[in-house]
Amino acid sequence: MSPNQPGQPKLPIPGVRNLIAVGSGKGGVGKTTVAVNLAVALAKLGHQVGLLDADVYGPNVPLMMGINQTPMAQGERIQPLRNFGVKLMSMGFLNPGDKPLIWRGPMLHSVIQQFLRGVDWGELDYLVIDLPPGTGDVQLTLIQTAPITGAIVVTTPSAVSLEDARKAIHMFSQVRVEILGIVENMSYLIVPGTNQKLDVFGSGAGKRTAESMGVNFLGEIALDPEVRIGGDTGQPVAMRNEGDPRADAFLQLARNMIARLDSIGPQVGPKIEITD
Ligand SMILES: Nc1ncnc2c1ncn2[C@@H]1O[C@H](COP(=O)(O)OP(=O)(O)O)[C@@H](O)[C@H]1O
Ligand SMILES: [Mg+2]
Repeated sequence: MSPNQPGQPKLPIPGVRNLIAVGSGKGGVGKTTVAVNLAVALAKLGHQVGLLDADVYGPNVPLMMGINQTPMAQGERIQPLRNFGVKLMSMGFLNPGDKPLIWRGPMLHSVIQQFLRGVDWGELDYLVIDLPPGTGDVQLTLIQTAPITGAIVVTTPSAVSLEDARKAIHMFSQVRVEILGIVENMSYLIVPGTNQKLDVFGSGAGKRTAESMGVNFLGEIALDPEVRIGGDTGQPVAMRNEGDPRADAFLQLARNMIARLDSIGPQVGPKIEITD
């Protein structure tokens, strides 16, 4: 992998102020769940939000956001769909059903470009990008062509998940993408009918990893059947009223991310200079 050279400008996406990549080392750690609920929480806080499902081989955003229609084109541009106040684009809208896509590098590259620049995102405070798991082609294409404001790395507290999360963090820092922080998902389980926390995967290990790597910790999300049901039924828990512990956890995560973006101030926004 060749790190981005300074002076190699990445074209901003007009109207999009912050591009937030949500990544993980492993699949199944709750990356899409976090991306979806973070986007919904940001919209609830009154921001203009888009969610781009860059997991072109395994797009789960349509299911988790409870919408699956064919997007319309207007002129040259694809109109994003919209649900829960979030603008949406996913390969799942264009290739519905269970047929897998079999694409290689150049096709992948062009579809990512289409999603970033051929979609009429309009004015957005945040465009959240749900990356596929790992450190492969899609991630590199995105990182090398889009002015990503910062990356969030989702992990469970288990050692195997953290091992891969560390790789993802190294990938982002190697290509000079700011790490906004680690989210520890599936931190613990509240034993039903009690207040007792059951430590399933080793609660707290995400935070310790963040500290040891010198990156920010953005928060923890409990392992909770309601979160899974929200995903499976297209009713993200972040939509629930204030006072619901799941909704509150994602709102807090959104606030922590915004605070972190504020703290890196000068990096935020379409600040990239284009030299012709
Ligand atoms: N905090 C959580 N509590 C319960 N289930 C969860 C939680 N986070 C994710 N899940 C479930 O785990 C499965 C994998 O999550 P997903 O977001 O698809 O992971 P990834 O995008 O990393 O592959 C999904 O069924 C999802 O609903
Ligand atoms: Mg996913």
